Amino acid sequence: MASTDIRMESLTPPSTGTPDKLAAAHPTSAAKKSRRKIWIGITALVSLAAIAGIVIAVLISQKVIRVGSSSSNSVSEAAATSQAAEGSSGGGGNNNNGGSPPQPSKTDSGSATNTSGGTSSPIKSNSPDDEDEDDKDNEPEVVCPSPSDIPKSSKGSYYDTTSWLTLEGFNCTFTTNTIGSLPLVGLNSSYSNTARANPQVPPLTKPWGSYAARPARGVNLGGWLSLEPFITPSLFDYPRSASIYDEYGLTLHLGPEKAAKVLEQHYATFITEADFRDIAAAGLDHIRIPFSYWAVETYEGDPYVSQISWRYLLRGIEWARKYGLRIKLDLHGLPGSQNSWNHSGRQGKVNWLTGPDGPANAERSLKIHDKLSKFFAQERYKNIIAFYGLANEPGRDHDINLLIQWTQSAYKIVKDNGIDASQVMSDALRGLGEWHGRMTGLGDSMVLDGHEYVIFDNALLSKTHTQKIEFACQIWVDQITGSMNTATGFGPTMVGEWSQADTDCTQHLNGISNGARWTGTFFNGSPACPTGDKQCSCDLANADPKDMSPEYKLFLKVWAEAQMDAFEKSWGWFYWTWKTESAPLWSYKAGLEGGIMPEKAYERDWHCDKPIPSFGKLSEIL
Ligand SMILES: *[C@@H]1O[C@H](CO)[C@@H](O)[C@H](O)[C@H]1NC(C)=O
Ligand SMILES: *[C@@H]1O[C@H](CO)[C@@H](O)[C@H](O)[C@H]1NC(C)=O
Ligand SMILES: *[C@@H]1O[C@H](CO)[C@@H](O)[C@H](O)[C@H]1NC(C)=O
Ligand SMILES: *[C@@H]1O[C@H](CO)[C@@H](O)[C@H](O)[C@H]1NC(C)=O
Repeated sequence: MASTDIRMESLTPPSTGTPDKLAAAHPTSAAKKSRRKIWIGITALVSLAAIAGIVIAVLISQKVIRVGSSSSNSVSEAAATSQAAEGSSGGGGNNNNGGSPPQPSKTDSGSATNTSGGTSSPIKSNSPDDEDEDDKDNEPEVVCPSPSDIPKSSKGSYYDTTSWLTLEGFNCTFTTNTIGSLPLVGLNSSYSNTARANPQVPPLTKPWGSYAARPARGVNLGGWLSLEPFITPSLFDYPRSASIYDEYGLTLHLGPEKAAKVLEQHYATFITEADFRDIAAAGLDHIRIPFSYWAVETYEGDPYVSQISWRYLLRGIEWARKYGLRIKLDLHGLPGSQNSWNHSGRQGKVNWLTGPDGPANAERSLKIHDKLSKFFAQERYKNIIAFYGLANEPGRDHDINLLIQWTQSAYKIVKDNGIDASQVMSDALRGLGEWHGRMTGLGDSMVLDGHEYVIFDNALLSKTHTQKIEFACQIWVDQITGSMNTATGFGPTMVGEWSQADTDCTQHLNGISNGARWTGTFFNGSPACPTGDKQCSCDLANADPKDMSPEYKLFLKVWAEAQMDAFEKSWGWFYWTWKTESAPLWSYKAGLEGGIMPEKAYERDWHCDKPIPSFGKLSEIL
């Protein structure tokens, strides 16, 4: 009530406009009349304040319930207003506990709580109309539960929506329902498939058709749900003595509570709805979303943050849907680490298929796929999940027969659970040629995924600018065409990762502080830039595109377009990656902003049939 009084006092004088109103010392009848007027005015104001409060509370509840520090002021102010409003209208009855910040909106028509008297009752329309700004009236009014609405048994669990960092884009209705034992909470039941990414491709309601005839043009959302030091160095900014090289080390160091906070903050802010919008605006039509097994579950001894990334994955798919983008799911980190690299979660040793717990972890991965495929077999995913990836980059050293056996088991589980989308298997960094004649006979339901880079191999890295473009247009095209041949190769093939980088100079790219092959600082190798000597320098490679010479920018654009052209001989490509904190040659977004990527992925200046332009005085050593 105190806050109501204060509010009234500050509002009253300007609106009544009677300077003498409080000066009346003795109540004459005129004075009484003017007092009545004042009282009517005050009552009107209180009602106005109440209505305003409710409106603000409802608006806030539709956007964000829990807000970070940046906007917390306005939210708690609005929350106070809404409380005051409910107090004065005699409704309410939901008390906020002292500890947590006040919740602006708190009733849930479905649960045991109360809706306060004067407010309009929530309309449960299931208008599938996605976010049509004109359709505000048809949008259901969202009322979210408060902590006291969450059953004791679910408090603090994944299902407790009041414990989430943000409710933006999430359905806040409490539910413990699962499909394939994976939670549905946070997901809207209504959805619309009418969007199309751009005029070149069909809307989600229509089939894509042949990927051989219309290759996918996509990006990865790398470093988002599966961390990678070079993409977000800020998360790994610790002294070397802390020995933090990967998500395992980071979460172990932070401990469960802090790790959950830090990672959720990252999930909620690194990729937002605007990114999906911008991806579609760039003329791209597919998104590969890497995520790791801890989105599904963790095992004893795991420091990983369990499950929180799951809801961000689901929300990401819905945002992709809103912009007509199709999805390639990518299980990037498997139990035990399938490749010993930092992006599998834990670098060092492979403990999947082989290693002390190899067989157990292979079995766990199959169970993960059982759950995932049951979940994604839902009708709502049929038109949007175009590709289902089984395992990102199993290491080169796996016994190929064991790997094939595991892949076949996984394939069967996923297929039997009702996933009709093409499944995807990695070439396991062996090169596409290694798979000629292996794992064939599955037709379009299995796609071979090669990741094509010229920078992790000294022989390719040391090629000149022009030679790199030739390599893409000739060697990669040959390899892809060979693989796509169902009689003599593998069959459906795609390029799930590639980048514009022409050196390995990016900070932490080769692991935290491991240096670069380009300059010979990577494990004391010799410099691998084209001159192969001390002149090799990384000075320019990490520059902002706006500081690059026009010749270098021209090369980078042609280099990107050459790769796109080459990879479109396959079922399509996915750039690695959409966004980085500080590595422009690994960020499609930064490339667009810097003018070194085509404005529309489907409208390009250069293709492999054209002569390679001269890059003027561009130095081969940067
Ligand atoms: C709802 O509110 C009314 C009046 O404010 C009260 O009488 C009633 O008991 C409340 N119901 C519940 C379920 O809290
Ligand atoms: C889910 O529905 C709510 C309320 O209608 C809306 O605010 C939210 O944006 C939707 N989420 C997504 C991902 O579309
Ligand atoms: C929110 O989730 C609940 C429970 O799953 C569901 O009944 C409801 O329809 C969902 N709301 C929207 C807007 O989809
Ligand atoms: C870390 O990941 C990058 C690719 O993102 C890879 O090139 C590098 O080899 C990895 N380093 C280690 C030590 O795992």
